[in-house]
This record gives sequence, C-alpha cells and structure tokens, in this order.
Amino acid sequence: MILGLETSCDETAAALVTDEGEVRSSVVASQADLHARYGGVVPEVASRRHLELVSPVIRETLEQGGATLDDVGAVGVTQGPGLIGALLVGLTAAKALAWSRGLPLVPVDHLHGHVASLFLAPDPVEPPFLCLLASGGHTLLLDVESHASFRRLGTTLDDAAGEAFDKGARLLGLGYPGGPEIDLLAGEGDPEAYRFPVARVPGLDFSFSGLKTALLYAVRDLSPEELEARRADLAASYQRAIVRALVDRVRAAAEQAGRERIAVVGGVAANSELRAQLADAALAPLAYCTDNAAMIASAARYGEALSPPSYLALDAYASRA
Ligand code: KG4
Ligand code: ZN
Repeated sequence: MILGLETSCDETAAALVTDEGEVRSSVVASQADLHARYGGVVPEVASRRHLELVSPVIRETLEQGGATLDDVGAVGVTQGPGLIGALLVGLTAAKALAWSRGLPLVPVDHLHGHVASLFLAPDPVEPPFLCLLASGGHTLLLDVESHASFRRLGTTLDDAAGEAFDKGARLLGLGYPGGPEIDLLAGEGDPEAYRFPVARVPGLDFSFSGLKTALLYAVRDLSPEELEARRADLAASYQRAIVRALVDRVRAAAEQAGRERIAVVGGVAANSELRAQLADAALAPLAYCTDNAAMIASAARYGEALSPPSYLALDAYASRA
C-alpha cells in the first residue's frame, strides 16, 4: 500500500491506498476553525498545527486501515505548490518515515493530486478527458492526456473560483471557508434575483474580480435589515454567476481540445449547483474534492518513486515554475 501525506494548506491529511487505487483509510484533520477568526489561512499558524497533527494523523490512518508500517510499500507526499512552511512539515515527515523504513518516496504535485482523485476505485475515470480544477488556490482547465501528464489550457487572471466564494461569503457576513456557506444559503434564495456579470476574457481564461466588486456594490447599497432579507438571494445569484463562468469555459475548452469527456475536481467541485449543471461530467467523489491525502497517494501510483537516500535532499516549492 501507499501511504499518502498532504499538508500544503490548512488540512493535515494522511491516507492508505492500495496499488489498485482502493482507499483503505483517509484521515483529514481540518484547521478551518483555527483560521476562521482571521477570515483566511495564517501560514505560520498552519505550519505549527501541522507539526502537532502530522504524527497522530498518520497513526490514526494506519489504525483505521487495520495496518502497520510493515504494510506500507511507498510514501507519497505533496511537494508543492502551497504554503512553503506547511509543505515542509509533510515533506520532512515523509522523508523521515520513508528513510527509517528503507522505503521509496514519491513526490507529488498538489494539482496532479487533485486530478488523481478521479483515478481512485471503485469508479476510476480513464484519460483522456478535459478537467476543470477549481479550488481555493487554482482555477485551471487541463487537458489530461494520461494518468501522469496534463496540458494547461486556461487559468484565472485574478482570483481563484474558491477564493471568489470565500471573499463573497465575507462580504455577505458568512463564515470561513465561504464555499460551503454560500452553497447552503443559496438553496434558500433566488438565483435570478440579481444579474451579476460574468467576465468575458479572451481565450480560455477566467476572471472573478469584477464579480466580487459587483457583489460589494450590491451589498453596500443595502441597510443591515435589507441585507438580512436579501442575503440568500445574493448568495444564490453570486453562486450562479461563478458556476455559469466555470461551466461555459469548461465546455468551450472540451470542444477546442476535442475531448468528449469532462471532469471536475478540487474544493469547488463539491458545489451542489456546479454538480447539478455538469451532471453528465465525471465528478470527483465528494469526500475527495477538498484537500485530502487519498488523492496524493493516488497520484503517487503514477509518479516517479525515488529510492533512499536520494530523496533526502528534496525541497518543497511554493509555486510551479
Ligand atoms: O481543494 P481545496 O480544499 O484547497 C485548495 O487546494 O485550495 O479547496 C478549498 C476551496 C475553498 O475556497 C472553499 O470555499 C471551496 O473550495 N469549497 C466550495 C465548496 N466546498 C469547498 N466552494 C463552493 N461550494 C462548495 N460546496
Ligand atoms: Zn487543493
């Protein structure tokens, strides 16, 4: 089995995945509560919390999987992109564990990890397909050619889709992370109540900053009582605008790339309206949309396994070159 580790942002996660892609156990310790009062992730706070959680989370993962370290054949770990201090905790833990057991280590790119959430059993999606990766840090259109490689066709010019959800939630006085909060509240609102603009940038790129400003103006014009009464309508209309932008572009990209199959991964793939609008697409399983280590172990199945001690000098990276 592969032991996966993920610490790129504010989730400390470990998972055991078999060579066939079956998840034996997956443990995610979210730090969201710790960061909520700041309205976003505080990097230094995240690193320290990872340090406290990484060993207990690994122990819990082995226990839930009914396994010991003797059952682990390789360690897969997120190398980047993400918060550098947070990444270093997971990478260092992975190196120590792998080296002490004489195991190979597979460094995994976090974005590749999100794509690989689709390769898990029992219903793995076979490449090629056109993939929308929408998370708190990224909004990417990827032409996934094989299990190990993809070509980037589009990205966001400003905010990521998840970031747009989080910032919108803040403007509406909702909690962090904002995506699930808006998703829930939107269910009680009218998505056609407000006409928010969907930016039309050339090519296959996205832009969400104008939308955020439109929401700001709409909220600013309301009294506290009016905001209370219109909050659900605002949430529903704002969500619709984001989802419309994502759906339009992913369909256009699939057509351009000549791919019949569309897939969606990342935290925003958990959004109920997006899932409904793309019901014909391959959607990442709900449990593996937001950050987790099962997707990292899944990607490790297709990555390059480094033998000990060559990986001890490996460094984390904050962003892709
Ligand atoms: O993939 P992820 O856990 O972390 C990154 O790699 O960034 O994605 C987190 C993002 C957050 O911005 C969060 O608000 C968003 O995913 N998110 C959602 C939903 N659940 C999480 N956005 C919209 N609707 C949801 N149900
Ligand atoms: Zn992520």
